[in-house]
Amino acid sequence: MKKILVIHGPNLNMLGKREPEIYGRKTLEDINTALKDRGRELGLGVETFQSNFEGEIVEKIQQALGQADGVIINPAAYTHTSVAVRDALLLLDVPIIEVHLSNIYKREPFRHKSMVSDIAAAQLAGFGDYGYIMALEALPRLYS
Ligand code: DQA
Repeated sequence: MKKILVIHGPNLNMLGKREPEIYGRKTLEDINTALKDRGRELGLGVETFQSNFEGEIVEKIQQALGQADGVIINPAAYTHTSVAVRDALLLLDVPIIEVHLSNIYKREPFRHKSMVSDIAAAQLAGFGDYGYIMALEALPRLYS
């Protein structure tokens, strides 16, 4: 069974309460439960991880080396700033899908730049929480 690691960056633990008009009303737990359920249906093992700390996200990515078969990541604010998260992802030789709840290109100019998009296999932005499910459903196609 392929193992997919889903990483959520800073402030995504506040989903549901945080700017719901932008990020929706689902909580992170709702999203993680839906991902695990869909993973079960698709025959994919799903592990989820959230941290507000850049170094913890870097360490989690490092630990995925040789363990995860694919990564879905919403680096949240670190999308726009973190060379460290980017460098850690470059360690991995598995498909990476970048997900954003909002369409970052419709928002402030500082959100238009992603440190991850050119090393990810694909990016989904603007589909809300469904973007994570789309990423999970699409990931297996990247193996063939
Ligand atoms: C986000 C977009 C980022 O710009 C922002 O900092 C986030 C969430 C999104 O999912 O739309 O925290 O990654």
